[in-house]
Parts: sequence; structure tokens; C-alpha cells
Amino acid sequence: MNILTFRTQEELNKAGAGIITGLLQTNPRAVLGLATGSTPIGIYRELVESHRQGLVSFSKATAFNLDEYVGLEPGHPASYYTFMQEHLLGLVDIPPQQCHIPSGIAPDLQAECTRYDSLLEEHGQIDLQLLGLGHNGHIGFNEPDATLEGGTHLVELKESTRSANARFFDKPEQVPTHALTMGVGTILKAKMILLVVRGADKAEIVQRALQGPITTDCPASLLQTHPHVVVLLDSEAGGLLK
Ligand code: GLP
Repeated sequence: MNILTFRTQEELNKAGAGIITGLLQTNPRAVLGLATGSTPIGIYRELVESHRQGLVSFSKATAFNLDEYVGLEPGHPASYYTFMQEHLLGLVDIPPQQCHIPSGIAPDLQAECTRYDSLLEEHGQIDLQLLGLGHNGHIGFNEPDATLEGGTHLVELKESTRSANARFFDKPEQVPTHALTMGVGTILKAKMILLVVRGADKAEIVQRALQGPITTDCPASLLQTHPHVVVLLDSEAGGLLK
């Protein structure tokens, strides 16, 4: 693992955006695995700025998002579809038909997972998978459990995850109880993984994920088995690394 620690958020954002921009410049048809949450927002802002300056185009790229809440219409303000439109996909030149996200309102959620996996399969490997990290070690919405799933699947969110994400909703009880998420198998198949973590509140889980035992109790620890992971941390998040 290549672990890089940054003193300022700006440096971290520029480094993250630079890796994605560099990939798109050498491979305009790159397949990007994208993440939501507070963590990638600054990187997306830098990418939008680079696009505005004419330094990068997303016109031939394909985007696959990691996850979506069950029961939220795409137009819901807290849906991950809306998040991606507002922070990246709606602000750059990527055609909508090249942007994919599981549908949390599909009448048959199992069929939706199968559809998403088939679509991923058609595109071959994800070239770069961007990841944030949940406080409990989740990646996407792959929550700690005795076993983990390889492909896209329905997951019941842990109460700690629901309360961590309540800030995006008007009331805590509005946070959905379930989500669809890409599986750990799909994430680990990506050619390169870019894990980004910020803040002192994540220092302990960063240490467990990167230096602790590889266990399904901390899904991000499985990233230790991947041959090409780049980790971008601010100094707070990296504060407990040995
Ligand atoms: C969310 C998302 C994850 C994200 C993580 C951390 O629930 N499903 O993809 O990486 O939790 O979120 P944040 O960046 O807001 O701390």
C-alpha cells in the first residue's frame, strides 16, 4: 500500500484529483468507481475545476457508483444519485448514459443487483475505485459481518452508519434502513483503489484497516490483499499509524 499523508485538505484534494485526472488523460475511456459521503467532496470540486479549465474531459469515461439507499427516488435530496449530480457528474461533460448507480427504488431489488453486476461485467474491470471509509470499517455499504458478499447486494445498515449519515437528512428517522452496494469482490477486482480518509474520528479505524488483522469485522482491512492501493490521509486520520 502506498500511504500518503497531507498537512492540508487542499493538498490532499489536489493529490486525489491529480490521480484521477492523470488516469483520464492517459485513458480517456477509463471506468471510474465513484464514492459518496463527505470525504470525496473536495476531490470532486478540484476535478470540476480542472474540467472548467479544459484540463480534463469525462466525455468518454464511464462511472459506476458504489451504492444507493433503498427507497429513495433519484430526485430525493439525500439520494446518492442527487449527490453525484450536485458534486461531480452534473458538472462535467460525462454523458448521463455513461453514469451508473444502483436503483434503490427498483421493484425487484435482487434483479437490480444482478442487472448492476452484469453491467459492471460488460465494462470489464474498474480502472480506479475511489473509496471513503466508514467509522466501523465499511467500504461502500459493506458493513462488518461474519461473511462478506462479492457482488452487488442488499444490505441492512448498522445503526451507527444510519446515525453517521443522519446529517444528510432532515430527521434521523428518515435515514433509510437498507441500501444496495457493490460487493467487496467487485471493489477488489478494480485495477487501482484510491482510499481517502480525513479526520481524527477515523484515526482508529484507519489503523485497524491498514495495519490490523485482515478480517470481515473490518471490511476495509481486505484492501491489504490488493496489489495497487493508494491511501490519501490528512494528518489527523493518519495519527495512529505505526
Ligand atoms: C457512507 C458511504 C461510504 C462512505 C462512508 C464514509 O455511508 N456509503 O461510501 O465512504 O460512509 O462517509 P463520510 O465520507 O461522509 O465519512
